[in-house]
Amino acid sequence: MNAPLQNDLYLRALNREAIERTPVWVMRQAGRYLPEYKRVRAQAGNFMNLCSNPELACEVTLQPIDRFNLDAAILFSDILTIPDAMGLELAFETGEGPKFGKPIKSRADVDALPIPDPNDSLRYVMDAVSTIRRELNGRVPLIGFSGSPWTLATYMVEGGGSKDFSKVKGLLFSDPETLHALLAKNAEAVIAYLNAQVEAGAQALMVFDTWGGVLSPANYQEFSLRYMQQIVDGVTREADGRKVPITLFTKNGGQWLDLMAKTGCDGLGVDWTTDLSVARKLAGDGVALQGNLDPSVLYGSPESIRAEVKKVLDSFGDAPGHVFNLGHGIHQFVNPEHLTVMVEAVREMSGR
Ligand code: CP3
Repeated sequence: MNAPLQNDLYLRALNREAIERTPVWVMRQAGRYLPEYKRVRAQAGNFMNLCSNPELACEVTLQPIDRFNLDAAILFSDILTIPDAMGLELAFETGEGPKFGKPIKSRADVDALPIPDPNDSLRYVMDAVSTIRRELNGRVPLIGFSGSPWTLATYMVEGGGSKDFSKVKGLLFSDPETLHALLAKNAEAVIAYLNAQVEAGAQALMVFDTWGGVLSPANYQEFSLRYMQQIVDGVTREADGRKVPITLFTKNGGQWLDLMAKTGCDGLGVDWTTDLSVARKLAGDGVALQGNLDPSVLYGSPESIRAEVKKVLDSFGDAPGHVFNLGHGIHQFVNPEHLTVMVEAVREMSGR
């Protein structure tokens, strides 16, 4: 039996309830900007060892909760666990980012891809979820996550990170059917993976569409949003008598927030290039918004951090339905004490 939730501000904000203050968590809150993370990461030897060890993954998940008293925990893992489980052979070389030993090169490669059984080849993720949920002991809700089908496809076809996305966009324009076949498989795998996370104890879900914003508006709808719609329609939306909210985040997707809201998701992640007042007009009142401090603000002085936090809170205004976060992941060279300043400013300034 899992302990009852002591702090459910995050879930209530996503439900657009009027609450006493704005909840706050941080994308990539467990990571290399924290000295305690670097110690555990060194102990694990490499990043994938850390992800695949439920005790260590749990330990680093809880580090930012302990240090900053954040209002939500996020599973420590990566979006690239799915393509790894499909057999693409993920490796993280130090300082180089992710690389796949066997990237997707042909229609035959796509047709040969298995849909991983989340309780088999991704069992280590589910074990991390249940371990974290147990160790959180009801302090704050646990967010499970995956990449969007399109964002996963960019890494699978490029073989790693990319600046111009020439291979995956080349495929989009030369052989869209093959790309659709890949996206359909990714969507099926993501749905099974997220549902298994909920079964293992995740209390909210988030889909990271980091690279949807490199597409044209029409192609965004056809190659990214369409498959996120399948996810919204296919995932478990309630567990243990409580709603399991799902948040979609397309980086650089500010102009499409209206279309994203129509998927029926509960929350939308917004990056710092869209003002939250504009985001709210576009998205309407049927979804909550998450964001959207520029992560680089944390390089500034405590006074400027407080001033920028106030601007974000003011841009959202007094209505319910705001989850404070950065507009993208925290940078690795940020001073953690500056994050303390940010979190305390949100607490103080948003109190009602
Ligand atoms: O937010 C959290 O604290 C949970 C953990 C988390 C990680 N990656 C840990 C991680 C989450 C939610 C992710 C998501 C992720 N991974 C995304 C989508 C979100 C985004 O940032 O846009 C993407 C695109 C990836 C793919 C990925 N994983 C890249 C490009 C890299 C290398 C980046 C880098 O800074 O080196 C990773 C590795 C990674 N994932 C690290 C962490 C903490 C750093 C690895 C290390 O410790 O060496």
